Amino acid sequence: MPIEDLPEFVEKLEKSGELKRVKTEVDSNLEISEILSRIMYSNGPAVLFEKVKNYDMPVLGNAFGSMRRLEIGLENPDFTEIGQRIVDMTRMEVPSGIISKLRKLPELAKMTDVAPKLQKSGPVTEIFDDSPSLDRIPVLKTWPKDAGRFITFGLVATKHPETGVRNLGVYRMQIVDSKHALMHWQKHKRGAQHSEIKKDAGDRIDAAVIIGADPATVFSAVAPVPEGLDKYVFSGITRKTGIKTVKCRTVDLEVPANAEMVLEGYVDPSDLRMEGPFGDHTGYYTPPEPYPTFTLTGIMRKQKPIYLTTIVGKPVLEDAYLGKVIERSFIPLIRMFHPEVVDFAMPPAGWFQGMAIISIKKRYPGQAKKVMMGLWGMGQLSLTKIFVVVDENVNVHDLNDVIWAVTTRADAARDVMIIENAPTDTLDPASPLVNLGSKLGIDATQKTKEEGYQREVQELVSPDDATRRMVDSRWQEYGL
Ligand SMILES: Cc1cc2nc3c(=O)[nH]c(=O)nc-3n(C[C@H](O)[C@H](O)[C@H](O)COP(=O)(O)O)c2cc1C
Repeated sequence: MPIEDLPEFVEKLEKSGELKRVKTEVDSNLEISEILSRIMYSNGPAVLFEKVKNYDMPVLGNAFGSMRRLEIGLENPDFTEIGQRIVDMTRMEVPSGIISKLRKLPELAKMTDVAPKLQKSGPVTEIFDDSPSLDRIPVLKTWPKDAGRFITFGLVATKHPETGVRNLGVYRMQIVDSKHALMHWQKHKRGAQHSEIKKDAGDRIDAAVIIGADPATVFSAVAPVPEGLDKYVFSGITRKTGIKTVKCRTVDLEVPANAEMVLEGYVDPSDLRMEGPFGDHTGYYTPPEPYPTFTLTGIMRKQKPIYLTTIVGKPVLEDAYLGKVIERSFIPLIRMFHPEVVDFAMPPAGWFQGMAIISIKKRYPGQAKKVMMGLWGMGQLSLTKIFVVVDENVNVHDLNDVIWAVTTRADAARDVMIIENAPTDTLDPASPLVNLGSKLGIDATQKTKEEGYQREVQELVSPDDATRRMVDSRWQEYGL
């Protein structure tokens, strides 16, 4: 059975030795984040801070900070299955005749199994606070030069104004006062797109910030799913069972019924204020930029909610593991468009949008470039700054192997592609302008005669089979 909510996840982590409780009183101002950063940099456990100075709400951090914890949370040792389920759905034949409909019934039933189910009430509707305040939530200040306290792990729910498709995105929020926060949805993200559509119609957008949910829903908010796919449905696909939802009280949105807490409100695109600086996942402070204001209209919550948070900074921290699961789970979707792709890696040190390495089974000249150009046109991969394409026999997860391929199969003038004035990740500290910069593509595949490589391809060094077998059979004799 999939995990239903955050307390159940906490219980499972604790039973597996993956969670520690801190009973000593700690401060949400810098102290918790310093503890969490030491724990995260040393591959430590999830931490539940039970006693937080001035607040009566426990704080949970690093809950997703290891592959083991993500395996527990998503009950999925093979994360590629998640993307494969989406691919399988797209390949399902839609039956027309009654007989074929009946034959397809079990598969269609599976699809409805993953759809969200709207309930009248749920644990999150236990309490509704109509004079709500952000001041009662133990929001962390992470780094000393941060502009203030930031909600870092809120799942921001919005609805596409035209299609009604529901979205969730993790966008940080800087607390302004008890009723206002700044919504850091970057330009390329779906929350910002929804808001822009509303803005064009002269309107503001409803938003609900979900604090703490079942692990699959948290993952869903981080995942760059294909356009048009409802994130609640994606959560159901991830956990193989649809989540339960309830309606918000003051805005027209649905939220997970098992959430710890939901901050209801709206984002006004005409009320822009300077957000930041904030110590970001690039390892630098992102300087202040204008972002729209979220106004709180109500809070729904459990009787005793847990405040789920995380900290970001120079990689590798907790978000790296979520990124790894995205990398694994989205390979089947990449292959759907580019079947030559064998493997794909986004090294965590490159904060995910910085660099990706792709191995391909090359069949024709220029194919590495075709893959790069295709991926630069695909969802959030379009924001990746550097692509390196290698042959199928190079291990994309082994940087030694990748560097060997780049230095032995790429010629700088022939195999490097630079694209100017392209969209970049908002956080890229090196791009000349915010959101606009250049791309670097390195084709590190073995070049062929058709690609203008007129030399003989040099043979890879390896032992002959007879010697290998002989040494294998005598290995014990050597005493090594
Ligand atoms: C801890 C954490 C913090 C994040 N903060 C932000 C943020 O402040 N702004 C943003 O646009 N994306 C942020 N992201 C990335 C988005 O959540 C991610 O790109 C997601 O796919 C967005 O969903 P969307 O495409 O549906 O908008 C963050 C991710 C994580 C894991």
